[in-house]
Amino acid sequence: MDKLVIDGGHPLRGTVPVSGAKNAALPILIATLVAPGEHALSNVPDLVDVSSMLSLLGRIGCPSLAGDVVRIDTSRVAYSEAPYDVVRKMRASVLALGPLLARCGHAKVSLPGGCAIGVRPIDQHLKGLEALGCRFELDGGYVIGRVDKLRGAPVVFDVVTVTGTENILMAAVLAEGTTVIENAAAEPEVADLARFLGGMGARIEGAGTSRIVVEGVSTLSPAAAPYAILSDRIEAGTYLVAGAITGGDVRCEGADAQSLAPVLSALEAAGCTITQGPGWVGCARSGPVRPIDVETRPHPGFPTDMQAQLMALLALGTGTSTVRETIFENRFMHVAELLRLGARVDIDGNLASIHGVPSLKGATVMATDLRASASLVLAGLAATGTTEVLRLYHLDRGYEKLEAKLGGIGARVRRVGEGRPD
Ligand code: EPU
Repeated sequence: MDKLVIDGGHPLRGTVPVSGAKNAALPILIATLVAPGEHALSNVPDLVDVSSMLSLLGRIGCPSLAGDVVRIDTSRVAYSEAPYDVVRKMRASVLALGPLLARCGHAKVSLPGGCAIGVRPIDQHLKGLEALGCRFELDGGYVIGRVDKLRGAPVVFDVVTVTGTENILMAAVLAEGTTVIENAAAEPEVADLARFLGGMGARIEGAGTSRIVVEGVSTLSPAAAPYAILSDRIEAGTYLVAGAITGGDVRCEGADAQSLAPVLSALEAAGCTITQGPGWVGCARSGPVRPIDVETRPHPGFPTDMQAQLMALLALGTGTSTVRETIFENRFMHVAELLRLGARVDIDGNLASIHGVPSLKGATVMATDLRASASLVLAGLAATGTTEVLRLYHLDRGYEKLEAKLGGIGARVRRVGEGRPD
């Protein structure tokens, strides 16, 4: 199995190109189902999760061609099922529920189950789709949904859910009448999905806020021009922290400062210098890392997907920082591994207290999820000596060309093993 070997302790300087956002690409790929025909998407990141979503589309009967522009043909849907062997690899397969119900009136999707960061139920997805007229039963680990006619309705989420909001959106665009989603996720990736749907004829207002109004239409058709996926704010944030944690200066080309605002504020408060211009954001640090207190929140709050990476930086602070994780109940899996690199962190429920240390020291570490792995890579880049990050497949799910991009800003990193998994 692949590992990343890092010779740390060198400031990173230079420019990193930001890829398309994984969490925008995944819903948009599956949303092609709601408009039969040929779709073209650009800025799709080359990631294992994207390949998994394309293979799910293939299983449904929709072939695709990868390349600079990804082409998907959704003219025909042969099966309305997301089987266990795909869902088990990628939780986001649950996003097939809304579009399959809208397209076929039937969907059979394996229940995703828990994962390293928490239980992650889908009750809100089902509640929202039920409000639109769907009926569900559970059978053999599968959730089976049926609907004769989707009808617009008010949907009020009890918790803010990103993929839940996306599932309702993808069904509501073809429902008869108006759907109003209250307490919707306002993440930029939800807004990107809405823009993509809008380009196919959907009528959506308020995406990117907590209240989304959808006027259903009877048919949608693929847009003529390729749709360019939004840039990845979490990837960009991770490279900005790479600049900060190594005392370097990294510029992310293609980054969107607005969607990164909560991350940039936290980095500034921690003593980093943020610079920005049209289509780029930079982060440098020459002084000490100042301790800060951060709480993860739905957008526009501080994103849970940047919590582990920020914690790596705070591990080198001049005092005690706190990080409260309010989105997922088990998202401190990186802490035990950061301790192996010399960090000092106490955990009390969902609150981590990070007592800064002057330096970290290389070690062999491994993580159980994508962002935790990113945090360990960042810590390894700052640590003296050699760090080996095992289970690299987590990073391949979410970071395109990781070693090449890090190498481009001066990191001494190499992948050792058998190459990227299929
Ligand atoms: N929740 C429920 N019931 C539901 C849905 C969610 O209780 O029906 C709870 C979850 O258990 C969690 C909270 O609501 O405690 C928020 O979960 P959400 O549904 O928003 O997460 P998600 O849609 O499954 C997406 C991203 C995650 C990101 C979260 C939060 C995608 C494909 N995934 O997951 O990304 O952490 O939103 O922003 O968009 C990652 O990229 O590393 C990643 C995990």
